Amino acid sequence: MTVFRLGDRHKKDKINFLKRHWGTTEMVVSVRRFDMTALDGFIVYGANGEVSGLVTFIVYDNKECEIISLNSEYERQGIGTALIQSVIEEARRVGCSKVKLITTNDNIIALLFYQRKGFDMVELCYDMIKESRKIRPQIPEHGYWGIPLKHEIRFEYLL
Ligand SMILES: CC(C)(COP(=O)(O)OP(=O)(O)OC[C@H]1O[C@@H](n2cnc3c(N)ncnc32)[C@H](O)[C@@H]1OP(=O)(O)O)[C@@H](O)C(=O)NCCC(=O)NCCS
Repeated sequence: MTVFRLGDRHKKDKINFLKRHWGTTEMVVSVRRFDMTALDGFIVYGANGEVSGLVTFIVYDNKECEIISLNSEYERQGIGTALIQSVIEEARRVGCSKVKLITTNDNIIALLFYQRKGFDMVELCYDMIKESRKIRPQIPEHGYWGIPLKHEIRFEYLL
């Protein structure tokens, strides 16, 4: 598997992949809007030439790195791990002290995945999705497994 740093040549693939997985290229996290088309990231292609995974992130003043989106096309083949590892290495390279991210209470697989990858659950932001819906009303009431989509959970990986 080869992981590429996102560049101009990946722009079309990135946008198509994001729209397919999120239905939009805009992410609302903790009442903040992110245009994911403008974000840095890494991309993985499968043997068929199709995108099999994508991560987007932001580095704030070379101090903290925040993952904004992470998607793997094929579960449990190491794609998510390779992408997370690339972000951790990049964050370390530029001198960040941590990689952080936010996921939601319904996302059981993400809660499992991030903890297996060494991320620590540092905060529960109770009812935060209610606030995000004020910005993006399309956020559904129910998420994965039909679980009510209500809370944000913050994770950190100290470098
Ligand atoms: C979370 C996600 C990125 C994981 O990607 P992935 O390519 O499956 O990850 P990996 O193959 O590297 O899995 C690493 C470990 O995570 C755990 N894991 C991942 N998916 C799992 C599943 N469906 N069931 C149980 N464990 C799982 C396992 O421990 C796995 O290691 P193992 O296969 O050696 O046991 C992927 O499930 C995904 O795209 N989910 C939808 C989008 C999302 O929720 N993104 C994260 C929130 S922003």
